[in-house]
Amino acid sequence: MWEITNNRRVIFGEDSVKQLPDILKWQGVKKVFFVTFSASAAPTSNIKELLQDAGISYVIYDKVVAEPDSVVIDGGRDLFLQEGCDCTVALGGGSVIDTAKSINMLSTNGGSVEEYQMGEKQVTKESPFYVAIPTTSGTGAEGTKTAVVKNVHNGLKKSLYHVSMIADVVILDPKMTLTLPKAITAATGMDALSHAIESYVSKNATPITEMYGLKAISLISQSLEKACNDPSDIEARGNMALASYFGGMAITAGIGIAHICAQPIGGEFHVPHGDACAIFLPASMEFNLDFAEKKYADIARALGVYDRNATQRENAENAIKEVKRIRSAVGAPDSLRKYLPAELPSEDYVADVIFRTCGHITCNPAPVDKEVYKKFYREAL
Ligand SMILES: NC(=O)c1ccc[n+]([C@@H]2O[C@H](COP(=O)([O-])OP(=O)(O)OC[C@H]3O[C@@H](n4cnc5c(N)ncnc54)[C@H](O)[C@@H]3O)[C@@H](O)[C@H]2O)c1
Ligand SMILES: [Fe+2]
Repeated sequence: MWEITNNRRVIFGEDSVKQLPDILKWQGVKKVFFVTFSASAAPTSNIKELLQDAGISYVIYDKVVAEPDSVVIDGGRDLFLQEGCDCTVALGGGSVIDTAKSINMLSTNGGSVEEYQMGEKQVTKESPFYVAIPTTSGTGAEGTKTAVVKNVHNGLKKSLYHVSMIADVVILDPKMTLTLPKAITAATGMDALSHAIESYVSKNATPITEMYGLKAISLISQSLEKACNDPSDIEARGNMALASYFGGMAITAGIGIAHICAQPIGGEFHVPHGDACAIFLPASMEFNLDFAEKKYADIARALGVYDRNATQRENAENAIKEVKRIRSAVGAPDSLRKYLPAELPSEDYVADVIFRTCGHITCNPAPVDKEVYKKFYREAL
């Protein structure tokens, strides 16, 4: 049995943010809780102008940091309630979208985000109307019911999720990503590629997640390098916005060993999520090769490196080589070393952090255990 949770509306295209006022007015909202990555950035001014021109009141929340934590989220919940907001608009990357998603849920369900994250409290009430406008192309968080949050008490970066938390409306406007610097474009693009590849080989893959995954892979292969080399290439930006969204839909099939390592290590040592994924993705493909050879050969086709005269094994290996080539072409990192303290954390310590965060995940094609976590950490140094 499987299911997929979808947004109610997805609007794509240049200047599609101009739809926002009509969407909010039709919904009859009174006051918008507007969560943004920066109060002064050009995309924020754009949205503010649209809201002001339409006479829609709002309050801005720009306290989001990378790896959103419970302090930022619970603080946002208080402001949402004090200001009498009745809807949320998120403008930003995965950090902002996850923060907004959590605040929106807490505004009707009450309590602290950590209680839901640690399974102490359940979501029992619908969330207010929520519109997500991504400004990075990587996490696909606009298309998922999940929020990834750093727990300030136990230090773990863990997810909370509920079907009611997914954005009602997603606006994918490539113009919102034009200001994204090259390094973040590269890292977030590698995150999207990791979602597409890891979900495609996941033991829980479904026909829908496979379809989204393959399409995301081919869009990324056509457009990530272009978006990095020319940040103003609007077609490449549009393809990456779609690829990120499709990757988000695909990753509902569950994360594999690249994310199993990237998420906890990223949280512990402040490695940007996309960089952490870039470091572990090729190694994850090598590790899973014997368990997912045919699927990696399919991925070679989506990456445009399938050779009709080669064996399935050779094509699977072509896919791995191509992912390494893309990583290097966009300047994404291949080693953890620069993010770690001079005195390297022990393998046991790192394996324990991974186990406590992601030890329950069982959909990676090859079996994984603490020894595997240690090997990935060791080989990423
Ligand atoms: N909910 C999910 O399904 C899901 C999936 C994967 C990852 N995540 C989470 O998402 C977070 C990472 O999100 P991200 O990779 O999008 O990065 P991010 O949201 O942390 O943003 C990265 C940086 O880019 C800046 N930025 C964003 N948009 C910009 C723009 N248009 N112009 C200039 N600067 C801009 C931000 O201010 C920030 O400094 C992590 O916490 C990760 O765990 C969530
Ligand atoms: Fe990710």
